[in-house]
Amino acid sequence: LPAEVAYPVDILEDSPEGHQAAAQAYYDSLRERAPTAAEIFPLPTGEQVKLETSSLCFCTVYRDEPQHKILVLVSPQDTKTVVAVYLKESWWSTEDVLRTSDPTRKGLMKVRSFGERIVLFILNVIIFGKLERSLDDEDMFFLPHPAKEQAKILWRDGAAIGFYSTKMKGSLCGNGTNACYQLPVFDTVFVRKKCRRQGLGTAMLQDFCDTFQEEEALGVSCPISPTMYQVLRQFLLACPAHRGRLWEVEPPGAWGQRANIWLKVYLQEARLPEGSIAQPGCTGEDMSRPRQTLQDDRLVQCDHGESHKVEQWCVIPWPSSLFCDLLAFV
Ligand SMILES: CC(C)(COP(=O)(O)OP(=O)(O)OC[C@H]1O[C@@H](n2cnc3c(N)ncnc32)[C@H](O)[C@@H]1OP(=O)(O)O)[C@@H](O)C(=O)NCCC(=O)NCCS
Repeated sequence: LPAEVAYPVDILEDSPEGHQAAAQAYYDSLRERAPTAAEIFPLPTGEQVKLETSSLCFCTVYRDEPQHKILVLVSPQDTKTVVAVYLKESWWSTEDVLRTSDPTRKGLMKVRSFGERIVLFILNVIIFGKLERSLDDEDMFFLPHPAKEQAKILWRDGAAIGFYSTKMKGSLCGNGTNACYQLPVFDTVFVRKKCRRQGLGTAMLQDFCDTFQEEEALGVSCPISPTMYQVLRQFLLACPAHRGRLWEVEPPGAWGQRANIWLKVYLQEARLPEGSIAQPGCTGEDMSRPRQTLQDDRLVQCDHGESHKVEQWCVIPWPSSLFCDLLAFV
């Protein structure tokens, strides 16, 4: 592709229906005839994938609107690996779908357009959910986001490299009840593997905290992955002002569904069983000093928003004033 090419996110109109109809028409035409020799998609490995209907499938883009689908091409070796996406009457590799030729697209930007929703889907479901899923994160993955989810994509050097999403205070939990989130919640977050350990996860957490400056309490969706736990720990070590503010929450985030993250860090590092009352200072540990290891929770699946609880909870049913005293002490 020439350097000045406009990538899908730069040119897709906000017309999911029109887009889907075009993809369906293309699929139907392919089904009615044998593909010509020229109808192949070249992979970066040099392999060529035939554009035939047996290698194509329609993927649901949004969790809450199953009727919206995009047409994807899967690897002949592994039919769960998406190699290209059909957009604007052409096939684009998943990496190209993540690119932009718009120089103003940089840093953290709110997801607004249909094209940006597609980028969010590719990063979340195809890159994180499959290509860059690691054993470190156990089997954690996120479901596709709802169609109107508040999310930001992180753009750098002409490509999308991460995202985070937020559950807004007062928005429906979407768990089949009428319950609404009682605080803003940092829900899903992802940074591409090649860009990790450069402070980007922390930057997104900071952006979330800055966005809701007036809120006394902020949530982080449960379960928290071991790596995200490390990010939170570092962040709270560096920013004591947020220690009383950040809570690991289950929806809708009522008091009984919150665990203070800094206190969890403290309890774990003091190696006290969760739920027991910490005796600050009794371990002689200096919590202002970062440490290399931490006993991680074992987490399995992250179905954020409509949470399946998979870990032990540290619910603190104490009056908040007493709790703040403890945090100040810690
Ligand atoms: C969690 C995630 C977003 C962190 O992104 P990141 O950009 O690498 O995080 P940061 O660079 O800001 O990390 C900040 C600090 O956290 C700690 N940290 C981050 N990743 C760590 C790891 N794998 N092991 C140990 N410490 C880690 C480090 O102290 C790091 O600072 P340092 O690099 O100066 O030592 C990223 O690893 C990711 O996308 N993981 C898969 C998805 C996921 O787990 N999401 C969270 C769901 S709750």
